[in-house]
Amino acid sequence: MPQETYSHGHHESVVRTHAGRTAEDSAAYLLPRLSPGMDLLDVGCGPGSITLGLAAAVAPGLATGLDASEEVVGLAALAAAERGVENVRFRAGDVYELPWPDASFDVVHAHQVLHHLADPVAALREMRRVTRPGGLVAVREADFAAMSWYPQLPELEEWMDLYQRIARGNGAEPDGGRRLLGWALEAGFTDVDPSASSWLYATPERRREHGGSWAERVLHSAFAEQALERGLADRPALERISAGWRRWAEDPAGWFLMPSAEILARA
Ligand SMILES: C[S@@+](CC[C@H](N)C(=O)[O-])C[C@H]1O[C@@H](n2cnc3c(N)ncnc32)[C@H](O)[C@@H]1O
Repeated sequence: MPQETYSHGHHESVVRTHAGRTAEDSAAYLLPRLSPGMDLLDVGCGPGSITLGLAAAVAPGLATGLDASEEVVGLAALAAAERGVENVRFRAGDVYELPWPDASFDVVHAHQVLHHLADPVAALREMRRVTRPGGLVAVREADFAAMSWYPQLPELEEWMDLYQRIARGNGAEPDGGRRLLGWALEAGFTDVDPSASSWLYATPERRREHGGSWAERVLHSAFAEQALERGLADRPALERISAGWRRWAEDPAGWFLMPSAEILARA
């Protein structure tokens, strides 16, 4: 496996956020293209909540979730068992070296994975390799610099600056969304359907979820470890940013828009 660092890490505060995602809120652009009996691969599946929704859409076809982290793959398998989903399997592995022969799946999906990688084009080539000719590679990626929020708290500006430096220090491209179409073309896809969609955090519940998660992540997750180890921030700065996130979450006018790019690329 290549020596890359996944910027968010797998602290409970991170994995909890990922486990709240669904196929409906994260893969709506793909769902109408799925039909019963398809074989689907979800790379960088995390705790598997999106994979389970995709599995429902292809049943009785098989959905496979793959992630670099053994730990989250274990959580995904647990979630599947708890929900009694039988047409799904999870395994650890690397998107750069997928453990399947050419043309193994009808659909290969990735959600919020490529902008964490040092070589997203190589990942897309590998995803295409395991897709049957005529099948689909479906990817959705955030664009950090395109995120917007209100009120414009200086602590959130500080958070964005720090996140950009941490991710770029890992060789990743946090503004991956706007580059996704270009990456697909560079990987050799010629038939690519681009789209975009956003998540909005602007209700008390959604603000609590988003602001509360980041307030915790900046103090306790890999975000904090990397910022401190690399001398990008000190503890008081992290405390300040965390408090800023809580202040944002409590503001009844608080708004945070997170846009993502999507592609449906024909293999
Ligand atoms: C932001 S999370 C997204 C998880 C899930 N797709 C979702 O949207 O909730 C990115 C995931 O990609 C995984 N990942 C990072 N590098 C990887 C690699 N080289 N191969 C496979 N998975 C990888 C991480 O372990 C992490 O679980």
